[in-house]
Amino acid sequence: MPEQEKQHALKLECGQCRAKLDVSLLDPFSIFDCPSCGQRLRVPKVFGHYLLEKECGAGGMSTVYRATDKNNGMLVAVKVLREEFISDDPDGANFLRAAHIAEKVSNPGIVAVLECGICNRTPYTTMEYMGKGSLEALLKNDMLPPSSQVFNWISAVAGGLQAALNVGIVHHDVKPGNMLLSDECAVKLSDFDLADLRVGSLSKTSLGWASPAYASPERLNTGEEDYYGDIFSLGVSLYELLSGHCPYNNKGDSQQLLDRRRNHEYFRLMEVNSETPLAVSDLVDQMLDYAPIMRPSYADIIRVLNTAAGTAGTMTTRNLTFREKLKRFLPFGD
Ligand SMILES: Nc1ncnc2c1ncn2[C@@H]1O[C@H](COP(=O)(O)OP(=O)(O)O)[C@@H](O)[C@H]1O
Ligand SMILES: [Mg+2]
Repeated sequence: MPEQEKQHALKLECGQCRAKLDVSLLDPFSIFDCPSCGQRLRVPKVFGHYLLEKECGAGGMSTVYRATDKNNGMLVAVKVLREEFISDDPDGANFLRAAHIAEKVSNPGIVAVLECGICNRTPYTTMEYMGKGSLEALLKNDMLPPSSQVFNWISAVAGGLQAALNVGIVHHDVKPGNMLLSDECAVKLSDFDLADLRVGSLSKTSLGWASPAYASPERLNTGEEDYYGDIFSLGVSLYELLSGHCPYNNKGDSQQLLDRRRNHEYFRLMEVNSETPLAVSDLVDQMLDYAPIMRPSYADIIRVLNTAAGTAGTMTTRNLTFREKLKRFLPFGD
């Protein structure tokens, strides 16, 4: 983000003792102790009507901050294009494209875009804040969720993808790294950077950007996929969240990845996680079918997962233990 004008008269209220502090002369994001009560505080950075408080994610071209909207005190996430990429996209059209696509979908399984635009020459998108980070981060921190939790989450994401498809959107980057978890333990799909609006019957995409582990065989083969590709990637994600690893070995070139998909070279889910109901193990097999049109519909996926979640029950000891662990989990540090 370009160095903006000096932060004029920036006041901060200490969360502990409520002292009003003038932090205008301190560097944005620097840490200091409240002079009244000693509480550790961080200097926010002013960005339009937002106060950026802390980095909570970074991708190839953007940085995501937890922020407060000064107009209403609401906690939000602000994704900004990094400074080194601004000259390539001076009017922000490329960056804002994803936000404009995501804005078309309103569904509990999709992270809501609240606003997007350009501020201080920097294109940005404001979204609802998902305080527990991505499911990828959860897995990396050895927080393998209970099965019934995963059934509910993937069912919600499938609902989001169906809602997106209803308005012609294919996501093309479905993976746990783009599924975000709220403080209330709800999961929503985000990151529409690779998404497109269907034109004609086939939705095209460049393979270069895909995560190979989640890529559909047709995409590996031709660089193109329709929404069935999202269903394949959702199947890989479901498998990974229930077992801790992806179904296929991801080493080698795309021909090897393709051959493994064609030959179904993976252990069935119920073999690697004995708690998996047969219906869910079968569902994953169908979602990973080599032939796109043989994969189940979102309605089928939701039905099987909701039935499995209902049977497993939501208030098991494992679920409660997981929720307690999650409360203490701070994906973005303090
Ligand atoms: N709405 C949000 N709330 C909280 N954290 C977010 C939000 N959006 C993104 N992040 C964090 O930023 C990371 C990267 O965001 P993402 O949109 O996937 O960017 P990229 O396009 O660079 O992959 C996410 O994995 C997550 O940790
Ligand atoms: Mg992403």
